[in-house]
Amino acid sequence: MDYQAVLARIAEDVAPQVGSGRPAEYIPALAAVDPHRFGMAIADVDGKVYGIGDWQRPFSAQSITKVFALALALAQGGDSLWDRVGREPSGNPFNSLVQLEHENGIPRNPFINAGALVVTDRLQTLTGDASSELLEFLRQESANPELAFDAEVAESESAHGDRNAALAHFMASYGNITNPVPTLLDHYFWQCAIEMSCADLALAARFLARHGLRADDSRLLTRSEAKQVNAVMLTCGTYDAAGEFAYRVGLPGKSGVGGGIVAVVPGRCTLGVWSPGLDERGNSVAGVAALERFTTLTGLSVF
Ligand code: DON
Repeated sequence: MDYQAVLARIAEDVAPQVGSGRPAEYIPALAAVDPHRFGMAIADVDGKVYGIGDWQRPFSAQSITKVFALALALAQGGDSLWDRVGREPSGNPFNSLVQLEHENGIPRNPFINAGALVVTDRLQTLTGDASSELLEFLRQESANPELAFDAEVAESESAHGDRNAALAHFMASYGNITNPVPTLLDHYFWQCAIEMSCADLALAARFLARHGLRADDSRLLTRSEAKQVNAVMLTCGTYDAAGEFAYRVGLPGKSGVGGGIVAVVPGRCTLGVWSPGLDERGNSVAGVAALERFTTLTGLSVF
């Protein structure tokens, strides 16, 4: 497969959509990003990377980090995590509170904010420093020791973090948060504020295309766990747009409000795409379009 030629064609096809949508505004530091950026990278299972546009430019990974936090929490703490968080699509916005009261403080899935807070709480208990553990893991997998937190984004989110604080306190009232809420929120905000490029993301997600094997060939997840994480990405990774994303793209994918999306073709490759303009559900407009073009042009999808 000539991935470089495919990327050139995708960039041409999605150019009219780059700049559509709006950057996230509820985190002021993200609202300032130029919406006309577009980059895309493909990493094959052997670690060769192809890219186009702004594919090496770091941006705020935001909710994409939820995939990596989930993988680490499962790898280090096992299946008991699933007693505290479900695996069903929520059909609600990523920061919604509404289901929690009827469902005893158990979030629907690990990719909405409530579920990710439970996962980070678990990782904090397991490691004592969830956000640093995650950053170190991402540095190793992407072979980029310069990956870092963006302090401005973390502080901006913390200053406007009432919704996440409400989610965390509400779940704590059901006994589903075990660390002090302020500690948990700090780690969650710093986790979301990790800066990565499309290339970093595609490389870091490679264990999901390699059935659980890390970049150094050690095992992070069992084959079965890797399948499970990919399945939850497919059904829940783009929130209340997961059905539409599966329909258009046909791959497990995880979006972030920084405008990035990571997607996985099991056994073949991983993709990182970035364009900051978001649709009303918080997913990158040009990013989803680019992934749709990829699966249509190449026939590489899980279906
Ligand atoms: O907690 C938040 O709201 C953000 N740090 C992350 C949300 C996010 O990326 C949702 N993704 N589309």
